[in-house]
Amino acid sequence: MRGFFVSIEGIEGAGKSTVLKRLADALRQDGYQVVETFEPGDTEAGKRIRQILLDPQLKGLYPLTELFLYFADRAEHVKKVIEPALQSGKVVICDRFMDSTFAYQGFGRGLDLETLYRLNEIATGGLKPDLTVLLDLDVKTGLGRNRNTGKADRFEQESLEFHQRVREGFLELSKDEPSRFVVVDASEPPEKVFKEVYNRLLERING
Ligand SMILES: Nc1ncnc2c1ncn2[C@@H]1O[C@H](COP(=O)(O)OP(=O)(O)O)[C@@H](O)[C@H]1O
Ligand SMILES: [Mg+2]
Repeated sequence: MRGFFVSIEGIEGAGKSTVLKRLADALRQDGYQVVETFEPGDTEAGKRIRQILLDPQLKGLYPLTELFLYFADRAEHVKKVIEPALQSGKVVICDRFMDSTFAYQGFGRGLDLETLYRLNEIATGGLKPDLTVLLDLDVKTGLGRNRNTGKADRFEQESLEFHQRVREGFLELSKDEPSRFVVVDASEPPEKVFKEVYNRLLERING
């Protein structure tokens, strides 16, 4: 039996990591085998790619260079982690996936979306999440939540306008593919956000 692939998307501080952990625990209690993973950086090669991508000292990385590093990370991730887990029937929950590329490099940096779709198709071999949870949150609130967690990475240093475009981008993506996405109000308390996501996910897994 083929597994089920869930991606969790949203701006910095939306609560992706928090919800993912709760979701994985709950699904395990329900008897599912769950793989928790993330992008970028959850493979041997990916760890090294991630260091480049998030290095705050690496100013002015050319957008196309950044883009291909993400796709390199994703190709490795799909082949080595996601596909094998799905083939053995597991639920894979991924903290950020292809929609982050479209939102950050497309809507945020202004790269051509059609090109991103084509390249992404190559990197993933056509694999798409069965369900994408978009945690939607006001940009200031999100960035404020993460403020006390130490040094800002390359993306956290971007302007408010950049993050605003990213948020709007995610919302547009969700409107383009309403059957793949569920959009959840991430300004609610963690327990409420989790329950909403969990219920929507169970509907999909069982449906
Ligand atoms: N629904 C929520 N309401 C308030 N604070 C939250 C909520 N979800 C997460 N947080 C807190 O906000 C911060 C960022 O959450 P995190 O899950 O790391 O976000 P992300 O992974 O999307 O960047 C953490 O300190 C977390 O405890
Ligand atoms: Mg996180």
